[in-house]
Amino acid sequence: MRAIVLGSAAGGGVPQWNCRCPVCTLAWAGDPRVSPRTQSSLAICVDGERWLVVNASPDIRQQIAATPQLQPKALRHSPIAAVLLTNGDVDHVAGLLSLREGQPFTLYATADIQHSLKDNRVFDVLSAERVSRPDIRLGEPFEPVPGLLATLFAVPGKVPLWLEGDVVAIGQEAETTVGVLFEAGGKRLAYVPGCAHVSGSLRERLDRVDLLLFDGTVLEDDDLIRAGVGSKTGQRMGHVPMRGDTGSLRMLSDLRIGRRVFVHINNTNPVLVDGSDTRREVEAAGWTVAHDGLSFTL
Ligand code: MLT
Ligand code: MN
Ligand code: ZN
Repeated sequence: MRAIVLGSAAGGGVPQWNCRCPVCTLAWAGDPRVSPRTQSSLAICVDGERWLVVNASPDIRQQIAATPQLQPKALRHSPIAAVLLTNGDVDHVAGLLSLREGQPFTLYATADIQHSLKDNRVFDVLSAERVSRPDIRLGEPFEPVPGLLATLFAVPGKVPLWLEGDVVAIGQEAETTVGVLFEAGGKRLAYVPGCAHVSGSLRERLDRVDLLLFDGTVLEDDDLIRAGVGSKTGQRMGHVPMRGDTGSLRMLSDLRIGRRVFVHINNTNPVLVDGSDTRREVEAAGWTVAHDGLSFTL
């Protein structure tokens, strides 16, 4: 199994178009301590030819340009055979609009996420003749590309921001936010780019995986408030912080996990600064902070 982090940032990327928070300021200046990062996406392949893209970010065109494995090999061709969605957030679905040039592929998601897309006619640019959209049930393994087994599981989350009503339930384990367990050749990779809190069932799911790619949106619940860019907490956005008694560093520390990697990292998160105390703290806890292009062979 080969996995490539196409985009390691949360929605907005690094730097974000309208942001001068401390991390974005370094990125705008070209400071070598902060690598620019595109929005949340992962590519996975087993047979060396047919790739699954997990979450189609608004930056997918740039991500394909940076990844020779995903570039066309014939007059009209794409190695991207399938796309799988873990939620309906803009940073995970907007890239579908860039995949509209008549190319056949399969779009996998839970019925709940598929419904959100079907309700929104702009996604009809993916022609029904060429792009099938099967509903995937939680807990039922399927084979999105040859040799790769995928199983979706519910993760504490919330509805996409663009579908929020007056009252928003946060932390429900339902079909709106899922994680994926990938299996091939006896190896297991878990991908959880969005997670509101680390529940007991999630801990059971993640125990003994060879590689975990996990929600690294915020360092602390009040990152955005402290950075002065907004009033939303990580909790309100459906993202568990790294630090704290119920943070991911602590809640996942006793699990037997081969390698731990943070993805979906928001531009306000100080772990993005190479060589910073925060980066050292996270690395000392056994975690890697992903950058775009980081790849793994399992
Ligand atoms: C999130 O991860 O919280 C979302 O990507 C927010 C958004 O859709 O902008
Ligand atoms: Mn997001
Ligand atoms: Zn910023």
